[in-house]
Order: sequence, then C-alpha cells, then structure tokens
Amino acid sequence: MKKIAVLVSGGGTNLQALIDAEKSGKIKNGKITCVISSSPDSYALERAKNNNIPTKVIPRKEYESVRDYTRAVTDTLIEEKADLVVYAGFMTILDEQIVEAFSNRMMNVHPSLIPSFCGKGFYGLHVHEEVLKKGVKLTGATVHFVTEECDGGPIILQKAVEVKNDDTPEALQKRVMEEAEWKILPKAVSLFCEDRIEVKDNKTYVN
Ligand code: GAR
Repeated sequence: MKKIAVLVSGGGTNLQALIDAEKSGKIKNGKITCVISSSPDSYALERAKNNNIPTKVIPRKEYESVRDYTRAVTDTLIEEKADLVVYAGFMTILDEQIVEAFSNRMMNVHPSLIPSFCGKGFYGLHVHEEVLKKGVKLTGATVHFVTEECDGGPIILQKAVEVKNDDTPEALQKRVMEEAEWKILPKAVSLFCEDRIEVKDNKTYVN
C-alpha cells in the first residue's frame, strides 16, 4: 500500500475528492497518510480531521526563504515516508530540493489545459479570469508530475470543459472542478499507486 501525502493551502475540495475516492475503493493500493498545510486556517485541515487523517501545519509565514521552507516540507515528507506527494491546491512555491527528493513521485492538479493558462501567476481564480478574458471555448484541468519548471512537468491526465457565454470566473471554476479536477486527480493518484505510469523523455505512458 503506497503512502500518499497531500499538500494543501485552502478549501481542500480536491483533498475531499481524494478522501471520497479512497473511501469508495477507487484509489487502488494507496492510502492518504498525511495532510500538510501551508496555512493554519485552511479548511482542508478540517476535512482531514473529520476523516481521521493526521495533519501538520508548516506555516509559510514562519520561514524567511523559499529554501528554508522547502527544506522543512521536504524533511517532513521524508519523515512521513511518503511514496507519493500530491499538490492539491497548494499555493506555495518550493525549490529544487523537493524535486530531487521526490522526482516523478509528486503530482499537481492545475485548473487549465496545460500549456495554456499556466506558469507563474496562474493559480486559483486568476486562471479562470484569464480564460474568460481570452474567450477560449474549451478549458479544463491537468494533472502532471512536478518538476523544477512551474507547471511544466510530464502531463499525466487532462480533461476538457466547455466555456459558456455567461460564465463568471466563479461559475467556471466550479464547473472545471466538478467535471475535471475531482475526477482526474483521484484517477491519476490511483494509476500511480498501481505502478501504471511510466515516464520517458518528459512524457508519460499509462500501462
Ligand atoms: C483548484 O482549482 C486547483 O486546481 C487550483 O486551486 C484550486 C484549489 O482548490 N490550483 C492551482 O491553481 C495551482 N496552480 P481546493 O483547495 O478546493 O482543492
């Protein structure tokens, strides 16, 4: 059984999708063993506690540099013996130290079809605001492995979602979560735990 550590910062609906998937047997060979939050106030912590999942708060504010903060998070994940690290709405930038320790064992869910609307500054609601500004007709979500390049690692799963004429950023965010993120994140986690994802030349192959 692979140990899954989930990194969170906010509401934690993606964490909830993972918890629900685990409970209903959709995550094969994996168990969420720890939730780590960058903020003491994130509602994701309540979700973990309600499901008896151990939590740790590593407040970003208490560390001066990205380097020191990354070291603290990485050391905690090593102590927890995490096999897989999932960024589920984790809004803090970490440096190469964590990539070295968990290469091809860290995945992130991003609320657009990468390589559109991603990279520095594209997070949370801003992504959907930019999608509506541009007027694209399709958006969606992506689950990818985390590398040193922001949102640039090998793509594992993607799902498209229609943009509607009367969408607000909030309405679009909700639809992208419901129709894409909450489906492809648990699926990608299960594929990883079943050892079905292979990475070759910056691409993934699902076996
Ligand atoms: C989600 O839409 C997630 O894809 C996004 O933040 C939201 C967190 O919601 N992540 C990013 O933008 C990362 N670049 P949640 O806390 O309810 O899961």
